[in-house]
Amino acid sequence: MKFNTKTIHGGQEHDKAYGAVMTPIYQTTTYAQTTPGGHKGYEYSRTHNPTRNALENGLASIENGKYGLAFGSGLAAIDAIMKLFKPGDEIISTSDLYGGSYRLFTKVYEDFGIKFHFVGMENVANIENYINSNTKLIWVETPTNPMMNIVDIEAVATIAKTHSVLLAVDNTFATPYLQRPLDLGADIIMHSATKYLGGHSDVVMGALIVNNDDLAKKLYFIQNASGAICGPMDSFLVLRGIKTLHIRMQRHCENGRAIAEYLANHPKIEKVYWPGFENHPNHEIAKKQMGDFGGMISFIPKGSNYDDAIKIVEKLQLFTLAESLGGVESLAGHPASMTHASIPKTEREKSGVVDSLIRLSIGIEDAEDLIDDLAQAIG
Ligand SMILES: Cc1ncc(COP(=O)(O)O)c(C=O)c1O
Repeated sequence: MKFNTKTIHGGQEHDKAYGAVMTPIYQTTTYAQTTPGGHKGYEYSRTHNPTRNALENGLASIENGKYGLAFGSGLAAIDAIMKLFKPGDEIISTSDLYGGSYRLFTKVYEDFGIKFHFVGMENVANIENYINSNTKLIWVETPTNPMMNIVDIEAVATIAKTHSVLLAVDNTFATPYLQRPLDLGADIIMHSATKYLGGHSDVVMGALIVNNDDLAKKLYFIQNASGAICGPMDSFLVLRGIKTLHIRMQRHCENGRAIAEYLANHPKIEKVYWPGFENHPNHEIAKKQMGDFGGMISFIPKGSNYDDAIKIVEKLQLFTLAESLGGVESLAGHPASMTHASIPKTEREKSGVVDSLIRLSIGIEDAEDLIDDLAQAIG
């Protein structure tokens, strides 16, 4: 089955009870047993729920994985990965990453004795300097949020395998429409399904996809033991969202290109971060590992400071000033005061998240309307 077909049919079967074509919302907690343990595969919905299972099978299918696991948020999914480790273990992460992931690593798991190294991975050779016998995981976000840096997943996977270290990739920005990290050698794919997979800004959810039986067993144990699952209604919404992922992503990419090019040619814009530009430092890697370049763009207005950036995002009419990304509607954000405020200023500026940086999540509206809105806000 090819990708577009998988988004609709992958891992799905018609409902066993009445043949419903779309998996129903099993808003159910518990399941009748004829004798203790005598059930039809479902006992209690923290452990298994038919709607969540349909989603998990779909997630596995579109990422070319064997196992999918859905959680109550992207951070709950990352939290489940962290619970694989113990005090003394070390994790190497991209230095430019979602602020909430950074906060979970440094404010929660460092207190449990896990050590994190934040490393610029545009040059993968940097990673080797931090690997030692305690290293257990390499955490990669690519494209990175919000600087749109690209990390060569295949090259990092080679390093991870050489040192018997796990590789996890946050595939939220790219989605499996653009890149499939398990195929490139990663062990775990993580998603904030809140974003493109759900696609309609109406659900918060996280997901993990793996191939390895043993790793899947451990993660399913943590999912059930810690209980950070998502509900049936949310599972239904993301399952529905995935069915149009390919056509939404195609438009996100087309609009992303049009707006990135518009901004790059605008006399009042100093810098545009988008991996589709030939002069992007990792454009060749983006071309190699991604099918297209996505709808996330960051930019810096010329000679601007914190207040100038705020003025622009406040003036936007069609773009909504809001946290999050990946929905059908275009959003604008100011990372320094919003998504990345939990990263200390000195740390975030080291990776380029300066006060004047603006991040756009390009939706699937008409690109001309979005450009008109940017034109009036930039002035
Ligand atoms: C790249 C990335 N990873 C993880 C997360 C966390 O996901 P959630 O908000 O669903 O917990 C986000 C949220 O913005 C994100 O952008």
